[in-house]
Amino acid sequence: MQAARGAKIYDAQCAICHGASGQGTREGPAVVGKDALPLDPRPNQKLRKNQFKTALDVAQFVTTNMPPKNPGSLKESDYWDILSFDLKANGVAVAGKHIDATSAADIKLH
Ligand code: HEC
Repeated sequence: MQAARGAKIYDAQCAICHGASGQGTREGPAVVGKDALPLDPRPNQKLRKNQFKTALDVAQFVTTNMPPKNPGSLKESDYWDILSFDLKANGVAVAGKHIDATSAADIKLH
């Protein structure tokens, strides 16, 4: 299942800064929970300039900026798997949906 695959990749590549449950750490903002993925970048953010209206907006930011030391270093399918995991963790209904550029564009976050 895509979200389960994504959870494993998240653990290996992202959790060190975003927290084991996506709660955020001093090294990176929350990606799970009520403060996660806000429409506008937080005032202290340097990298993000775009709004997160849809899941595709998140993907566009992540694939070009994450992980910060080596942006774009994951396989494209790995990024979609992580997004599937992250949406599910945030209670977005993704059951039975394969997350890719087409489906992500239709998932409204704000
Ligand atoms: C070395 C620490 C680090 C790692 C590893 C890392 N991130 Fe980040 N991440 C950050 C920081 C710092 C920001 C805030 C960037 C900015 O200034 O806009 C961020 C921002 C984000 C955001 C946007 C959050 C928001 O509210 O704007 C997402 C989504 C995200 N990261 C996902 C990931 C994913 C997925 C991975 C793994 C592939 C990952 N990150 C790996 C540090 C990290």
